[in-house]
Amino acid sequence: MVGIIIMIRVDCSFIKRTQDYPCKAMRRQVLLFFLVFFLTSVFGQVSYSIPEEMEKGSLVCNVAQDLGLDIKRLKSGRARVHSGDSAEYIELNRDRGVLLIKERIDRETLCGDTTPCALLLQMILENPMELFRITIEITDINDNAPSFASSEKRFEISESAIIGSKFVLEKAIDADIGTNGLQSYSLNPTNNFALKLENQADGSKKVEMILQKPLDREQDQHILLLLTALDGGQPRMSGTMQITVNVLDANDNAPVFTKPVYKATITENSPAGTSVITVRASDKDGGSNGEISYAISNSKRRLSDLFQIDRKTGEVIVIGQIDYEKTKLFQIDIEATDNGGLSDSSKLIIDVIDVNDNSPVVNMISASGSIPEDSARKTVIALMSVNDPDSENNGKVNCVINENIPFEIKFTSNNFYSLVTDSDLDRERASEYNITVTCSDEGVPSLSSSVTLTLQISDVNDNAPVFERSSYEAYIVENNTPGLSIFTVKATDADWNQNARVSYILEDSSVNGVPVS
Ligand SMILES: *[C@@H]1O[C@H](CO)[C@@H](O)[C@H](O)[C@H]1NC(C)=O
Repeated sequence: MVGIIIMIRVDCSFIKRTQDYPCKAMRRQVLLFFLVFFLTSVFGQVSYSIPEEMEKGSLVCNVAQDLGLDIKRLKSGRARVHSGDSAEYIELNRDRGVLLIKERIDRETLCGDTTPCALLLQMILENPMELFRITIEITDINDNAPSFASSEKRFEISESAIIGSKFVLEKAIDADIGTNGLQSYSLNPTNNFALKLENQADGSKKVEMILQKPLDREQDQHILLLLTALDGGQPRMSGTMQITVNVLDANDNAPVFTKPVYKATITENSPAGTSVITVRASDKDGGSNGEISYAISNSKRRLSDLFQIDRKTGEVIVIGQIDYEKTKLFQIDIEATDNGGLSDSSKLIIDVIDVNDNSPVVNMISASGSIPEDSARKTVIALMSVNDPDSENNGKVNCVINENIPFEIKFTSNNFYSLVTDSDLDRERASEYNITVTCSDEGVPSLSSSVTLTLQISDVNDNAPVFERSSYEAYIVENNTPGLSIFTVKATDADWNQNARVSYILEDSSVNGVPVS
């Protein structure tokens, strides 16, 4: 069997070749075809290279010209192309001697990952029968973008996750091959996570993200990342996947009081249950890690007898008797603790406001029970101290004594008062005085108290006896016996007791030379 073997290496120059097809390989392939088809009268062989996805009716090649056949021969030989059992992608236009696209060719459907991808056609002519092999290589164009099976992935990651923790991401798929296929990935933003690609045995890449900066739920509770897969085509195509990281809370924040020192005031004698202040601490953590309970941390028993803090609300209330005179200022240490055991402390300073709840107390230091009536003016008859434990006006005291008595009260110094005589005394006029000292404070309303001192005025012999009459006249009959009572004289003395005792004597005188006695 004799045949003309035409080997033509054709470059369809009107088709932009996307991939350089090595010449040597092509020849080897052609040689192989020749050997296979030699026995079946193969007269010619042409190879073309076209990109996939060409429009229907597009020109593939001028096959007649390339095989050195004229149009008449094509017509007379009823030339037709035959593609075996594969679909009819290519048709022969006998009038023009060209091959045209009959059906759109999708390289990915035709060959998948196999390379090179080629259509093997036979052109058959009759009278005489001739067979031509036509190989049409289908080159890849970047008609597929990388894509992910799912558009979104969620991670729940604790904020305590350590640096270097790995999270497996999904691979992207790109049906194109070579540089049009999947080339690279990127992950944005890169604040917390970095992308890590690892080559695998099957040529694909393992895609992971690595934690490179600690997460902080208090700063970002949700982190949105975009994983992009890129191919190497012109232009480049990409596919994206949204990655959502929900940062789970760890107890990494302690409670913080809103103030380092709280100040409050409370009036003394406030009834139990009176609210003093509500303190507050905040915790940035969520859930039970952010739940705060409050406590008074002073260990002094007295404070916990007087004040109580509500564990949940932080309200401080009075539970005992607040006495300004005992304590004017309370310093309470308070503590806020979250459920994870982290805590903060603060101080609560409570000023007690005085209430005029104390009367002045008058204390006689010394007092004379009696003084002689001839005592000099300003003689001190009593010394007393006056105290009022209240503060300010509530503790300022003034003392007075009852009116119309010959005494005076004098402020000496430092809460001391003295009681002195103010004018001459006269026992014969008043032998006893009840002196009432009344001390009142300046509070509103004012409180007062008083003491009464009874002072006796002792006698001094300052009054002479006085006869009832300045002269007496009496008559007696003569020759009376001695011892006969003639008459009685009477003298009285205003003084008291001894000073008032009167004795009578007849003054020595004589009547007509005879002594009266
Ligand atoms: C002083 O008080 C006492 C007791 O209340 C009373 O008996 C006495 O008469 C009072 N004296 C004067 C001078 O008022």
